[in-house]
Amino acid sequence: MNLSEDVVVAFRDHYGADPDIVVRAPGRVNLIGEHVDYNGGFVLPMAIERAMWIAVRFRPDDEVHVLSCDFGQTARFTLSDFEYQKPHWCEYIKGVAAALKKRGHTLQGWDGAMLGNVPRGSGLSSSAALELAAAKAFCEVSNIPWDPVEMAVVGQEAENDWVGVNCGIMDQMISACGMAGHAYLLDCRSLEGTHVPLPTGVKIVILDTATRRGLVDSAYNERRSQCEEAAAFFGVDLLRDVSPEMFFAREAELPELTCKRARHVITEDVRTLAAADAMRMNDSETLGKLMWESHVSLRDDFEVSNEALNTLVDLAMAHESCLGARMTGAGFGGCAVALVREDSAAAFEREVAAAYQQAVDLEPAVYVTGATDGAQRL
Ligand code: GLA
Repeated sequence: MNLSEDVVVAFRDHYGADPDIVVRAPGRVNLIGEHVDYNGGFVLPMAIERAMWIAVRFRPDDEVHVLSCDFGQTARFTLSDFEYQKPHWCEYIKGVAAALKKRGHTLQGWDGAMLGNVPRGSGLSSSAALELAAAKAFCEVSNIPWDPVEMAVVGQEAENDWVGVNCGIMDQMISACGMAGHAYLLDCRSLEGTHVPLPTGVKIVILDTATRRGLVDSAYNERRSQCEEAAAFFGVDLLRDVSPEMFFAREAELPELTCKRARHVITEDVRTLAAADAMRMNDSETLGKLMWESHVSLRDDFEVSNEALNTLVDLAMAHESCLGARMTGAGFGGCAVALVREDSAAAFEREVAAAYQQAVDLEPAVYVTGATDGAQRL
C-alpha cells in the first residue's frame, strides 16, 4: 500500500542518484455530502491510504523533468515558458505550476519519479492526489510555505482552468487537509473544516462497480446548471443558502427536474451535518442510515447513479454486517462506499463481491481503507 520506498528505487534506477525528498498526497472517499460542494454546502470525505508519491531532486534551473512509473513515460517542461499541449498526465503538473505562478510564487525546477495506486477514473480522486503531490513538490523545492487551503485551490485551478474539468473543491481540500483516523467536515463556501473521528468498531469498505460511463463531464455540468437555476429561483447565489423550510414552502412552483435536483442538495446538507454529529457520538447506526438515505436521494432525485451502483449498494445493504452504503463521488459508475461492522468485514467483502459478480458478471475491486493524513513531505 505504501509506495514510498518503491518510488525511491524507481528514481534511482532512472536518474542514477538519490532523490532529496519524497512527497505524498492521498486520494479520497466521500462518506456523505455528494454533489453539494459546488453548491457551497457541507461534505464529509476522508483521505485514503491510496495515494500518489513523488521522489524529488532539486534542480538549480527552471526545468521540470518527470518520470511517471504508472505510464512508463517521461515528460519535461521549462517553468519560464510552457503551454497546454494535449490531454496528458503532465498537464496536471503544468496546471499546478501555472496556478502557483499566477499567485506570484517563484518556482524552482526539479527531477521527479512518481508512482501512485489510486485507481484512475473510479471516483477516488487520482487527479487531486496528483495535483496536491505536485503542489507539495513545488512548495518544497521553491521554499513556498505550505498552506493546505491555498494549495487545494491551486489544485482546483489546475483542474478547472488548465486541464478543463469543471470540478468543485472537495477532492483537493481533503487531499490537502486530511487527518489520520478522521473524516473532514468541510464547509465548501467558507472552506473552513473540522476533523471528525471515525466511529470505532467499523470499517470503511470501498467497492468498485468496474463500470465507467462516458460523458460524465457533460452530465456533471448539466447538474451544476440545474442547481444554479434552482438557486436563481430562490434569489440566492448558492443552494446552500436555501433552508429546507424555504424549499418545501415553494417546491411546487419549481419545474419538476429543477425541484428534484434542489431537493437532493438541500436535504443532503442536512444529512451531512447529522452524519458528522453521529460520528462525534460514535453512533455508526445513524451514520449508516444517513448514508443509505443519501444514496436514495442521489438515485431518485439527483439521478447520478447507475444500475451497477444500485445493484452493488442493494447487495451491500442486504448483508447483515452492513450499517449503510451509498454511491460515492460524481456517480454514473465508479465506486460505492459501505460502513461495515469490523468483526464481520472480511465476510462482507467476500460475500458481497461474489453476489455482485453473479448479478452483473463484473468483478468488483474491493478497497478497505483507514483515513490518512493529507499531502505531506515524508
Ligand atoms: C467529483 C468532483 C467533486 C464533487 C463530486 C460530487 O468528485 O470532483 O468536486 O463535485 O464529484 O460530490
